Amino acid sequence: MKINLSSDVVNQLSLVGAAAIVILTVYVAGKYIKQMKTDTSTGELSDENWDGIGEYKNPVPTGWIVSFLGTMIWGLWYWFLGYPLNAFSQIGQYNEEVKTYNAEFAKKWQNPDKETLMAMGEGVFLVQCAPCHGLDGGGIDGKAQGFDKRMKENQVLYVIEHGQHQLGYPMGEMPAGMASGDDAKTIAKWIAGGMKGEKPAAFAACASCHGEDGKGLGGQAPNLAEYDATLVKHVLTHGKKGSIGTMPAFNDGRLTDIQMEAVANYIASLKE
Ligand code: HEC
Ligand code: HEC
Repeated sequence: MKINLSSDVVNQLSLVGAAAIVILTVYVAGKYIKQMKTDTSTGELSDENWDGIGEYKNPVPTGWIVSFLGTMIWGLWYWFLGYPLNAFSQIGQYNEEVKTYNAEFAKKWQNPDKETLMAMGEGVFLVQCAPCHGLDGGGIDGKAQGFDKRMKENQVLYVIEHGQHQLGYPMGEMPAGMASGDDAKTIAKWIAGGMKGEKPAAFAACASCHGEDGKGLGGQAPNLAEYDATLVKHVLTHGKKGSIGTMPAFNDGRLTDIQMEAVANYIASLKE
């Protein structure tokens, strides 16, 4: 970046300040050197006397007080109105640039075709998600979600047993104990198996919130059947702590909406 001194009032003030300090230093040093040659001591001695060394009763010099207070005022101005908190900063500029770039990006990819979306999803996945979820989305040694299945049996059982309230769906909280014993196991097995074959009767306890087809009633509750964009967006926004481990939130603007949708598309393509 090219620094343009003339356009920045803070830089200009700093330069004026530096020049003033140099001029004052030369002047004061010269004055005292001259004074040391000619001066004889006068004035009233204070009562204290340490080992024969006395001290004159000098008033605090006005110039010193003025510069002391001036420094404090300048310090406050600098912090609250000047450089660090209010005006230009590298972090501020970085954030501005990211914002501009993201806006351009969103405009450019407003309606990507399926192929582009998939390629974008793969790109995002390899950079942001693969370190935990594995290059092929299979999870690394079971330490993160494998995307070959929407959820595994023990994960569903864990949620049924403990309930869950962290993803910020309009439906709110999933209460613990919506099913138990063999019913819970049968449901979990059916969901983990991709919801194929006959639907267990006990799923009725889940359908009121997750829908007859398990797809979450159009975003009211999580889609249990597949990774749709709504689910991935909720997980990325809130992070997730579950029976496998903890997934960090990505809600700091690292991913745009279209990138979330792209990565959801990509994840959906990873199933068996
Ligand atoms: C009262 C509504 C309600 C009922 C009934 C309900 N759920 Fe849920 N479920 C939710 C909500 C809301 C969430 C999201 C919770 C969150 O924010 O973390 C959820 C989350 C889940 C999750 C975790 C999804 C994920 O990706 O984290 C699973 C699995 C699940 N439910 C399975 C079931 C099963 C199986 C049943 C029936 C035995 C059931 N739910 C009954 C509302 C419900
Ligand atoms: C620091 C490691 C880490 C990173 C990075 C990470 N994840 Fe995760 N993710 C996890 C863990 C651990 C889980 C399992 C959470 C649980 O126990 O349910 C998970 C679960 C998930 C789930 C399933 C959630 C559910 O409710 O079924 C999705 C979807 C997901 N991650 C998507 C992503 C995407 C997309 C990215 C990249 C943008 C990503 N993750 C990056 C660790 C990570």
